[in-house]
Amino acid sequence: MRIVAIFLLSAIAGACGAGSTPVGGEPGTPLPDLPDTLLAKFFAGRALFDKVYTPEEGLGPMFNENQCSACHTSPASGGTGGFERVVKATRFGGPGDCDPLADFGGENIRTQATPRMKALGFERESVPAAATEVGHFLAPPLFGLGLVEAIPEEEIVLREDPDDRDGDGISGRAARTRDGRLARFGRKGEFATLREFVETALRLEMGLTTRAEDVETFNGRPVPRTADPTPEPEVDSVTVDLLAAFVRFLAPAAPLPPRSGPHRDTLEAGRRLFESIGCTSCHVPTMRTGRSPIPALDRKTVALYSDLLLHDMGPGLASVCAFDASPTELRTPILAGLSSRSFYLHDGRAIDLRDAILAHGGEAQRARDAFARLPWLRQEYLIRFLKSL
Ligand code: HEC
Ligand code: HEC
Repeated sequence: MRIVAIFLLSAIAGACGAGSTPVGGEPGTPLPDLPDTLLAKFFAGRALFDKVYTPEEGLGPMFNENQCSACHTSPASGGTGGFERVVKATRFGGPGDCDPLADFGGENIRTQATPRMKALGFERESVPAAATEVGHFLAPPLFGLGLVEAIPEEEIVLREDPDDRDGDGISGRAARTRDGRLARFGRKGEFATLREFVETALRLEMGLTTRAEDVETFNGRPVPRTADPTPEPEVDSVTVDLLAAFVRFLAPAAPLPPRSGPHRDTLEAGRRLFESIGCTSCHVPTMRTGRSPIPALDRKTVALYSDLLLHDMGPGLASVCAFDASPTELRTPILAGLSSRSFYLHDGRAIDLRDAILAHGGEAQRARDAFARLPWLRQEYLIRFLKSL
């Protein structure tokens, strides 16, 4: 990570003054100061996010859930998942060679079938035989993602250090899409915009097509027409726009205020440790959005605790590969809102923050070891700080 540029950037941000307090709100509520027209879109989008789709409306024939909020559920619509994990499979052939096994349904191995599909003898998709990796993914919370979308590309790429020139053991890299755009969304850095993610979620998680040329599949193979007679596209572009508006205008989770003077001191001690042992090399506390015609997104400070870059996290956290990510690479997740979470890491394997930290490897090995060496009480300060986010 390049320190000098970042120092300059924070100095500039600090000098700007206005809007330097991070935006935050109750989980599931809209960003403050949205005009009525955009609030109306937010609420229409939320209704679609909560809507239970039926096979007659195009659900399936293969799907994981019949509504977005079945997975993005806790502590409010737009939040994180419970016990459900989305399964993906890939074939990794070395750097730059990731086969998502799309022809065999590897992008998303769906667990549910509509009654018509079951009548044809299809129950659930299976892991393709050609797969070399299988990944299990917990649904992340979506709070504050519109602000994340509004962060200028320059602010993200200035922290890249692919060859670790500063020798700190950390070599963050911005993920790119096939057409070269910066991919800041997705645990493996796969999508440049929220709208594209939403479209893919409709298609893969719910079997709802969004384009006339979309084909319904079972393990990547087209299904018989009778399995899903609803004509493509099953949802129109207005629906996609409204769903994207809901996600875009969700307020980020606000940190929990300290309960007392001593509690404030504990949180402050934890915050300092988080910085001094190197967690902030990847979990960058704040970034600023660029200019936007929408005042709620315009030059706001976002407390995300992420650099939005890919890092090699070592074999312990490996899963599938992606177009621009190897099996061991993951995008630093946003830590805001940890207070309302019960499962941690991409697959939700940890129910304890200490375990989540100790699972860090690869580029995060040094910071992880520094944490492991802290006396118990100081580890506890850091964990209390994380739980206040
Ligand atoms: C079956 C569970 C499930 C359903 C249903 C589901 N999602 Fe997700 N969602 C996930 C998982 C798992 C991820 C993380 C996948 C990844 O990053 O590769 C995710 C990620 C996302 C992201 C990107 C988050 C980020 O930090 O980059 C968005 C946006 C999103 N979902 C929106 C939606 C919308 C809109 C719907 C409804 C159309 C929906 N999801 C339905 C499980 C689900
Ligand atoms: C090299 C970059 C890097 C460093 C340094 C780093 N992390 Fe992480 N952190 C990540 C990545 C990437 C993940 C995602 C791992 C996964 O999902 O499997 C993660 C996940 C987490 C999570 C779980 C978040 C969630 O959404 O479930 C916590 C908590 C966390 N880190 C805290 C810390 C703390 C505390 C430190 C310092 C001791 C630290 N991290 C240092 C990159 C880093």
